[in-house]
Amino acid sequence: MRKLRKIKQVVNGVIASDGDGVKLTRIIGSVELNMLDPFLLFDAFGSDKPLDYIGGFPPHPHRGFETVTYMLAGKMRHEDSAGNRGLIETGGVQWMTAGRGIIHSEMPEQEDGLLAGFQLWVNLPAEDKMVAPRYQEKAEKDIPVEIRKTSKIKVIAGKTKNGTNGLVKNGTVQPVYWDVKLKSNSVFSDFIPQGHNLFIYIIEGELTIGNSETKLKKTQLVILNDGDLIEVKTEIGSRFLVIAGRPIGEPVERGGPFVMNTKEEIHQAFNDYQTGRLA
Ligand code: CO
Repeated sequence: MRKLRKIKQVVNGVIASDGDGVKLTRIIGSVELNMLDPFLLFDAFGSDKPLDYIGGFPPHPHRGFETVTYMLAGKMRHEDSAGNRGLIETGGVQWMTAGRGIIHSEMPEQEDGLLAGFQLWVNLPAEDKMVAPRYQEKAEKDIPVEIRKTSKIKVIAGKTKNGTNGLVKNGTVQPVYWDVKLKSNSVFSDFIPQGHNLFIYIIEGELTIGNSETKLKKTQLVILNDGDLIEVKTEIGSRFLVIAGRPIGEPVERGGPFVMNTKEEIHQAFNDYQTGRLA
């Protein structure tokens, strides 16, 4: 018999600023919620005021994990020290494996209008922390969408119960990353592998989980306990992200833009960055 996942924790996030003054809400990776293995950070940004985002994220390094950028609105230009460059446009996703190191920038490709999206950091296990950097980049039109009677599921990663398969691959964490639109007075249900840590982030409207009466609202993140079945209900309609991954269960040592297993490895990363050996 399947086990229904229930609410474990509701997280509201804290207002923060990163890069060159980009306003955002940090929901994972703050004092409120340090991490949800394998997820190290989850930021939501969204503003139609250029001053909130125009500074972007000028060149900065990463090592030891993956950054996932998903754009809801607007365009972000990225460039890195290995000569990779591209544009993440509305509805597009970039799954970047920093591995042993890159120096990259992410800058808004617009001077006005709405810029909105998410950044998720996914940890890498020790054996993969020093792999060569790589990108999995998908435009909106290339991301599989599953249409059901009362819902529409954009499948960035993972597999739905009906067999729609995301294009992003990560063998260790086996991530699930869905963007679900659910019509009013309806229920969405699907299977998530047992043992995966899972959260739901509400983009629009409100919803309830399983048999709980607690109404979860726009911009809230809810962590569910273990099980293999999720059930989301809404009266007024909702749009939400379902994000899950298999925990890595290794020691995590953070040093700004680097996430390794030990302090020595963090020192090494800073040293490599300062001496130009990171990228
Ligand atoms: Co970055």
